[in-house]
Amino acid sequence: MKTPVDIAVTGAAGQIAYSLLFRLAAGELLGSDQPINLHLLEIPPALPALSGVMMELQDCAYPLLNKVIASSDAERAFQSVDYAFLLGARPRSQGMERRDLLQANAEIFSVQGRALNAVASREVKVLVTGNPANTNALIACHNAPDLSPANFAAMSMLDHNRALAQLAEKAGVTNRYIKNMIVWGNHSATQYPDLHYATIKGQDALSIIEWSWFVDQFIPSVQQRGSQIIAKRGLSSAASAANAAIAQMKAWINNTDDNDWLSMAIMSDGSYGIESGLFFSFPVVVNQGNIEMVADLKLNEFSRERLRLTEMELKSERDEVRHLL
Ligand code: NAD
Ligand code: LMR
Repeated sequence: MKTPVDIAVTGAAGQIAYSLLFRLAAGELLGSDQPINLHLLEIPPALPALSGVMMELQDCAYPLLNKVIASSDAERAFQSVDYAFLLGARPRSQGMERRDLLQANAEIFSVQGRALNAVASREVKVLVTGNPANTNALIACHNAPDLSPANFAAMSMLDHNRALAQLAEKAGVTNRYIKNMIVWGNHSATQYPDLHYATIKGQDALSIIEWSWFVDQFIPSVQQRGSQIIAKRGLSSAASAANAAIAQMKAWINNTDDNDWLSMAIMSDGSYGIESGLFFSFPVVVNQGNIEMVADLKLNEFSRERLRLTEMELKSERDEVRHLL
């Protein structure tokens, strides 16, 4: 039997975790021969609910689930972890934008960044999902000076999947025929789902799909999908968010498929004119566990303007939390 791998999940009694934990324990992230230890972090008032979730995990009798640790202490929860899913944060309700959560949630990520810095594996992969995810990743990263920025990413995979699914539906094909989708920027209403490089069964998407659908329907619909789900469910997306978190982490560990890209929010190195240091969603491939930006794509004026708008929003979010950086 292999040595168990340590995976931390914060907000472990929350909605996303209620889907994520069971999929992790079933082996969806690391495969059916890799035992895992789950390190679950919650705030003290949620520990009783978390103990119920742990009872359910036990009742699944997962062969791969070696040990489950619950704590409200970040340093205890992150001890030696190889992977960390940072879900724990307040979700928005109807009528709010994700950045309205910044003041409520930012502090969480400075505390957790410091704890990861102190005790996590030096190779830890930290995926930030709690909103506003890009700026929370920035905060966590800044508070972990002994880790590399390459240890951190924010989740763009849900936006990427939404964009794939909406284009596939419009084109009347299954998702697997769509390649080279890109979502640029912030996980917010300024994100830019871009079809300029996307292909459908090998053909340029924009040679098949009308420009007016791309601009007037596709872009706003992907941008607003999170709000639409909140309006219908009364709660924010959870199962699809857990699915995206597993998919992004799995791609980060295992390499991306040949001849395709994913979108991940990583620290900008100044490429595409995006200010260095911001966590910005770019087209990426993964090579032996390293995320590499797809470089030197030509952008037209339409795309450049959209990148500028979402960059501006990220800069102003960063300015709001300068005291934590
Ligand atoms: P939820 O309210 O159901 O669960 C959040 C959990 O986090 C709660 O159990 C809470 O007690 C816990 N928590 C709060 N502060 C904590 C801390 N300091 N340490 C550990 N745990 C803490 O919310 P949810 O639906 O699971 O969503 C979690 C976050 O993910 C929200 O911010 C939501 O907006 C965000 N989200 C992001 C995406 C994305 O694509 N990036 C998608 C869906 C949801
Ligand atoms: C989403 O995109 O579904 C999440 O970020 C939750 C939200 O607040 O929209």
